[in-house]
Amino acid sequence: PFAAVDMAPRDPILGITEAFNADKNPNKVNLGVGVYYDDNGKVPLLECVKKSEAQLMEKATPRTYLPIEGLAAYDKAVQELVFGADSAIVQEKRAVTAQALGGTGALKLGADFLKRFAPESQVWISDPSWENHRALFESAGFKVNNYPYYDPATRGVNFAGMLSALKEMPKGSIVVLHACCHNPTGADLTDDQWTDVIKVVSERGLIPFLDMAYQGFGDGIDEDGKVVRRFAETGGAMFVSNSFSKSFSLYGERVGALSIVATSAEEAARVLSQLKRVIRTNYSNPPTHGGQVVATALSTPELRKVWEDELAGMRVRIREMRKALVSKLKEKAPSHDFDFVIKQRGMFSYSGLTKEQVGRLRDEFSIYAVDTGRICVAALNSRNIDAVVDAIAKVL
Ligand code: LMR
Repeated sequence: PFAAVDMAPRDPILGITEAFNADKNPNKVNLGVGVYYDDNGKVPLLECVKKSEAQLMEKATPRTYLPIEGLAAYDKAVQELVFGADSAIVQEKRAVTAQALGGTGALKLGADFLKRFAPESQVWISDPSWENHRALFESAGFKVNNYPYYDPATRGVNFAGMLSALKEMPKGSIVVLHACCHNPTGADLTDDQWTDVIKVVSERGLIPFLDMAYQGFGDGIDEDGKVVRRFAETGGAMFVSNSFSKSFSLYGERVGALSIVATSAEEAARVLSQLKRVIRTNYSNPPTHGGQVVATALSTPELRKVWEDELAGMRVRIREMRKALVSKLKEKAPSHDFDFVIKQRGMFSYSGLTKEQVGRLRDEFSIYAVDTGRICVAALNSRNIDAVVDAIAKVL
């Protein structure tokens, strides 16, 4: 039955990790996938996670099925984190939240839900966007289009282009927006630009789908969540996917959530009932461990403080690596201007390296990056940065 099965191309991001893992060079560096490594080049196991796990171990609870929408304490903690505990939509029970298998799982739940209830709508993602956005919405059955976003000339956002595209979209179009730390470019909108986007989205009756996988990696937890809150204030429907993969360094636990904001509590209850059907026919209900760890950490004041400090530490270290990268490249490749790297936000730098240059980094130096030139600054450290800079200078 498999005679007609073609070989699929490797995944543009996770496929890089596969190639990296197979590389025997002891000095190899993986700047591909969006994973935070500490200065020793290790994925950290956060103190807040260890402490939450210790508490959970002590309680030693049996592993029954969770509710279809996940752990209630987790869903509540997510809503408070994403929308703010005192936000009107939380108070009025207009938001429903379901635990999901990471940010990707949350996006897929949202996509499947939308395909049932807005089957004629088309999806719009930024040009460029996270590689999996297009594939994921297409696999849910949508036609996926791009709206202008990145301007290579300014290394910033082509805001006029973006706004005029939003103004032309048919009512009911689904617009995927990066709430903070745009992946892959690191170029975010300003507050004033968001004001314009929110106005157009709301006036034209578009459906905003905010993807927030990097909350806390831009300016801070609340600062990065601001866009979601501003959208929520419009009173319109919206979707928010969020992830704790990076912010809790819990990649393999697959802890994320989908929140859907409806226009009334009664509507929200109907939405949740349907979202539960999407989940039940997909994977039935989510796993316990990651959700419990995050719920415990977010709702225990001492642990919450530990988490916020650890997340701030990651954010600061990435910033230091950006500065180090720029100043070292100034020395090694003085004719090239990399100052823009400082302004980019989140884990990534859209470096401007071409596909050929990325290929040479891989083949000649065992340094792995995404073909688009996206590099994960969070994978740089004081030991590998000189080798990376030397290699970049050589391929430029
Ligand atoms: C990334 O963009 O590298 C991360 O979001 C990991 C992933 O799932 O692609």
